[in-house]
Amino acid sequence: MNENFNIAKSNLPVKGFLDLKDFLIPEGEELKKAILELKKEKNAVILAHYYQPAEIQDIADFLGDSLQLARQAKETNADMIAFCGVHFMAEAAKILNPTKKVVLPDTLAGCSLADNCSGEGLREMRAKYPNSLVATYINCNAETKAESDVIVTSSNAETIINSLPNDRPIIFAPDKNLGRYLSKKTGREMILWDGSCIVHEAFSMERIAKQMAENPDAKLIAHPESEKPVLDLAHFIGSTSALLNYVEKDDCQKFIIATEDGILHEMKKRAPHKTLIPALVTDESCNCSECFFMKRNTLEKLYLCLKYELPEITMDEELRLKALKPIELMMELSKNVK
Ligand code: 13P
Ligand code: SF4
Repeated sequence: MNENFNIAKSNLPVKGFLDLKDFLIPEGEELKKAILELKKEKNAVILAHYYQPAEIQDIADFLGDSLQLARQAKETNADMIAFCGVHFMAEAAKILNPTKKVVLPDTLAGCSLADNCSGEGLREMRAKYPNSLVATYINCNAETKAESDVIVTSSNAETIINSLPNDRPIIFAPDKNLGRYLSKKTGREMILWDGSCIVHEAFSMERIAKQMAENPDAKLIAHPESEKPVLDLAHFIGSTSALLNYVEKDDCQKFIIATEDGILHEMKKRAPHKTLIPALVTDESCNCSECFFMKRNTLEKLYLCLKYELPEITMDEELRLKALKPIELMMELSKNVK
């Protein structure tokens, strides 16, 4: 199949991504040039999360954490948003800015947290604790958001939990590690959904303790999706953007980093003279902590999705409006969070 292949007239199933083998795709610098040309031609904006492959981070118009990317998606004047992140992030962009075409290079870029929590499950939990408020991490699908009272991200969660009325119990879903951490920070009792991130739960407390002993001049910094034993060891805990700011501004020259590997690309740019050591995971045969979902996106798939405007995120309008409500409340309650 060549470049002139007319996808609109084809029966090619667009299940998760356009199959690379069906297309002629430019390579190397030509590929980057073609992406930039398509972006201009289509008046598109490329949004990328810090966990994306380095070459996608480098070509993006905006690089950010979940909250920053949601704000960018809401405010953009572009006609098309090419969202380089995972599905729930692109879906949130569509919920916030429905008149824009939102494309995701690979819609199979899921998330273990989002995939293990459902709207039905939340409804059942709410029925058990009828007086409760449901605060849900943005790492969930639209149906789950629609059953929530408020959405949080890792950078605004503490602010939002602190603003919820004291006389109501809080159901927190789907990340039990983030929920446990927030409960400790805010002193609020929480009923936790039993979910976790496959990347952050892989960090090994024992191996990290050894890394710390070998590098006594290093500080351990961790994303709050990590498990309690790792968080208990950490000198600093924060969202991806908070971890980046900390490494850049703190006097310390050496850091052990307990979050997804992709963040090291931007960290090295912001703190080129500091030593950055990826925290070790339990599996001794693998020293990496890559999110398999985040890494499904590639420059080639980004090129195809800009060119053919597929795969596109679409949504039922009734569901979108239900999911929008708790996201709008999040935006309002955290407008002062950077
Ligand atoms: P941030 O909101 O901190 O960018 O985290 C997103 C995420 O998926 C972490 O695993
Ligand atoms: Fe989901 Fe974990 Fe990947 Fe973040 S790192 S997208 S929480 S699976």
